[in-house]
Amino acid sequence: MENFEHCIPTEVYFGKGQISHLAEILNRYGKRVLLTYGGGSIKRMGLYDEIMKILNDNGFAVTELAGIEPNPRIETVEKGAKLCRDNNIDVILAAGGGSTIDCSKAIAVGAFYEGDMWEMVETAKPGRKALPLVDILTLSATGSEFDGGAVISNMKLHKKLGGSYTFPAVSITDPTYTFSVPPFQTAAGSADIMSHIMEGYFARTMDSDLSEAIAEGVLKSVIRNLPVVLKEPDNYDARANLMWDSSIACSGIPEYGKESTGWPCHALEHELSAYYDITHGAGLAILTPRWMTFILKKDPSVTPRFAKFARNVWGLEGEDEAELAQKGIQALYDFFVSVKLPMTLSELNITDEYFPEMAESANRNNRLANSYVPLTKEDAIEIYRMCL
Ligand code: NZQ
Ligand code: ZN
Repeated sequence: MENFEHCIPTEVYFGKGQISHLAEILNRYGKRVLLTYGGGSIKRMGLYDEIMKILNDNGFAVTELAGIEPNPRIETVEKGAKLCRDNNIDVILAAGGGSTIDCSKAIAVGAFYEGDMWEMVETAKPGRKALPLVDILTLSATGSEFDGGAVISNMKLHKKLGGSYTFPAVSITDPTYTFSVPPFQTAAGSADIMSHIMEGYFARTMDSDLSEAIAEGVLKSVIRNLPVVLKEPDNYDARANLMWDSSIACSGIPEYGKESTGWPCHALEHELSAYYDITHGAGLAILTPRWMTFILKKDPSVTPRFAKFARNVWGLEGEDEAELAQKGIQALYDFFVSVKLPMTLSELNITDEYFPEMAESANRNNRLANSYVPLTKEDAIEIYRMCL
């Protein structure tokens, strides 16, 4: 087992009705609140009215930032940081999915950052001064509610950069707020959860037992609960399982004690989103089985890891590990098909036009060379081609 450090300073209020703690939580930080949200889903489901009633009844002064985009943009970070400064904001309250929370993390740091906001994104690092952030999660996917990272896009430059900003001080994660998530976003979010696990699971270290069990447990939970919520969107227990899966999957916990893996599928996917503004989880669902097929062929020494995936996650059996490895990849592919995720880039109108540029950028600072099975720029292009 490798060394690791555990530090997740976020308090989680999980479950039905936990919004009842909102006023008491915000009062810890002050009365001037910046409420941030996306394109209107919180209004349609009644959460906006619920929040505003609590804020008004408890004497908070509210400034609003609406319209945070999926794949949040640098321009919106600039707008939010200015609102914080102009209104002397004490605390940010983000209500939405990963995009709203990510944008709010960057705003929390941007409120104090002296200098250009894109430069802040390019140089993002932990420990910068930030406003306190409280969030109310409405989509199980990114894990932004339980980590310090955020991903910000600059569409003019075709850049989508992940980095460390600040942990939410408190996350309210009530599964009932995810009842309204449409089937496609539910499936894409679940693919993102699975990817966060698989990025760390496929590692050289085989003896970090608890991490392995947590990773396999999260995958099995998603495989069991996603089909349930697609049939019954308001099934509380199934939504609840997906929500906690989301928080744990990207927290780092399932990788404790393991060698780092470079998260190559995320590096490849962020380029797809940067060029084509696609849904992150959908891009990952397309890329992951192809990446698996590619690395298994490139380096057959990883076969035992794939056989373990087939056995422990998909319940497959067999003596021939090479065959089992292929069957595990096929099971993952078939699962994504069964939940109606697009499985080719062509379905998203993506051609090979920018593959060289995307591969170059995914491999900046030679980072793909440090992944589980080291990849070159040419390998990345080949994986993109396999996805067409
Ligand atoms: O904008 P609104 O109207 O709220 O609608 C959103 C959006 O259209 C909708 N939605 C959210 N909750 C809903 C709902 N619709 C109905 N009912 C609800 N309860 O869903 C759409 C997608 O929302 P978004 O926040 O974009 O999705 P997600 O949570 O998947 O976030 C994606 C972003 O997070 C980044 C991705 O790259 C992408 O930019 N990531 C962040 C990570 C992190 N912070 O750790 C890690 C991830 O790997 C990921 O890269
Ligand atoms: Zn992700």
